[in-house]
Amino acid sequence: MGPGKPMGRGTTLLPLLITWCFMVASVQSTFDITAILDGYPNFIVLNRLLSSSGIAAEINARRSLTLLVVSDDTLNAFINSNQNADAVKVADLLRFHVLLQFFSMDQLKALPTTNFSSITTLLQTTGKAIYSGKESVLNIYNTLQDGILIGPALPGASSNATIVANITSSGFDISIMQINNVLIPVGFSINGGDLAQVLTGFYHYNTFIRLLNATGVTDALAAMQGQGLTVFAPTDAAFSALSKPVESLPEDEQKQLMEYHVIESYLSLDSFKPLVDSHLQTLAATLATKGYKLNVTGLFLQTGIVNVTIGDVLEDTNPVAMYSVDTVLLPEDLFANLQHKRTENKTRIPHIPHIPTPSPQTINDTITQALSACAVLTGSSGSALVLLLSVVFLTTAM
Ligand SMILES: *[C@@H]1O[C@H](CO)[C@@H](O)[C@H](O)[C@H]1NC(C)=O
Ligand SMILES: *[C@@H]1O[C@H](CO)[C@@H](O)[C@H](O)[C@H]1NC(C)=O
Ligand SMILES: *[C@@H]1O[C@H](CO)[C@@H](O)[C@H](O)[C@H]1NC(C)=O
Ligand SMILES: *[C@@H]1O[C@H](CO)[C@@H](O)[C@H](O)[C@H]1NC(C)=O
Ligand SMILES: *[C@@H]1O[C@H](CO)[C@@H](O)[C@H](O)[C@H]1NC(C)=O
Ligand SMILES: *[C@@H]1O[C@H](CO)[C@@H](O)[C@H](O)[C@H]1NC(C)=O
Ligand SMILES: *[C@@H]1O[C@H](CO)[C@@H](O)[C@H](O)[C@H]1NC(C)=O
Ligand SMILES: *[C@@H]1O[C@H](CO)[C@@H](O)[C@H](O)[C@H]1NC(C)=O
Repeated sequence: MGPGKPMGRGTTLLPLLITWCFMVASVQSTFDITAILDGYPNFIVLNRLLSSSGIAAEINARRSLTLLVVSDDTLNAFINSNQNADAVKVADLLRFHVLLQFFSMDQLKALPTTNFSSITTLLQTTGKAIYSGKESVLNIYNTLQDGILIGPALPGASSNATIVANITSSGFDISIMQINNVLIPVGFSINGGDLAQVLTGFYHYNTFIRLLNATGVTDALAAMQGQGLTVFAPTDAAFSALSKPVESLPEDEQKQLMEYHVIESYLSLDSFKPLVDSHLQTLAATLATKGYKLNVTGLFLQTGIVNVTIGDVLEDTNPVAMYSVDTVLLPEDLFANLQHKRTENKTRIPHIPHIPTPSPQTINDTITQALSACAVLTGSSGSALVLLLSVVFLTTAM
């Protein structure tokens, strides 16, 4: 592995570097997915999409993989029913169809029939925190009766597919298998930033969806999402933990409460980390022109009433980010007086939930993954800096 004999530092590095570049170049020229698919008139639409999205280049840069392809008929039907598809999301969807492991038909048929096999897809290489876990994994089920089934590894999958044909393979580098359906990651919306649809896919945000809609905030979000948006989505359990339903508040306060969960700029998980005592302006602040700030230190949010740690990433497609929170963010501006009156009259005082050190492991994982994503994405430091600067600007402007 190492250089044969000891040399001076300068003389050792150069040949190594040249060898490395040579190796990278030869890895990249192992196959050309575009040229391979050119030979198949059934996959013209997919071939074009792979090239235009840049995924063909990502595939060609790898050494050992299985590409799951769908016919033009299937893909056209999917495209026709998703007219507002976002280009970034289409690229992610294509990555979900690239298994980072070579499987010949024989190898697939030799997989255990007693249990599924979990295979990571190219989606995991994007460095996006949302795809860092099982979201980017496909399970392969080798069934004796129904053949080989493939579906998202996360429970709640709305899609699955069957392998219908062995298209081609080249050595142990690339294998191409046809499946009968487009595979869709759990919680994935092909329409960039359709937040209600994204939330629906996760099942645990029904109250938030309903309240956003009822207060008209959904429409405001739809209008804003081109400019940048960060949303903290409380789970159904978070709303249940309140001693009274949000609907018992006056309508204008319900609306302000919803708007307090929205920041009018895109904040990736990375851009939160350097924040110390930053007072972020929420959408409620903009409209009420006073208060409604959210104090942020890293992933720790303080409203003055509750302390909350940012949870799972539900959406991270610049310019839209959405994070789960296990506690409703209660703004001081709406609830401080009520808290004072606590002893006198408890009827409208929201129960202040105990913060149950919310899954430190998840948070730790998220931070670790965000950190490694940062290190992997060499180009990300610039945009992180821009984000950081815009946050600082926001903070000082207030
Ligand atoms: C089935 O496979 C999964 C991962 O491939 C593994 O975590 C699980 O323990 C297996 N279950 C059984 C019963 O072998
Ligand atoms: C696969 O999807 C079909 C509908 O598209 C559904 O009827 C079937 O139950 C699913 N199978 C699995 C194993 O999830
Ligand atoms: C799958 O396709 C490859 C390449 O066309 C071929 O070599 C192989 O025999 C096929 N395997 C099966 C099981 O059909
Ligand atoms: C949103 O509200 C409208 C009327 O205000 C209602 O018709 C629609 O069903 C609601 N949608 C959801 C997802 O709650
Ligand atoms: C935010 O933090 C500042 C000081 O760091 C404090 O004065 C202010 O009351 C805090 N506001 C909230 C809503 O926690
Ligand atoms: C929130 O955290 C701050 C600082 O750690 C602490 O002073 C405050 O009491 C906490 N508030 C609640 C409601 O837990
Ligand atoms: C608490 O406030 C409500 C109105 O918000 C009032 O109807 C009720 O009588 C009050 N209860 C007490 C004990 O003051
Ligand atoms: C967080 O991760 C680090 C290593 O990445 C580990 O040493 C530490 O124990 C973890 N903390 C928790 C709370 O899981």
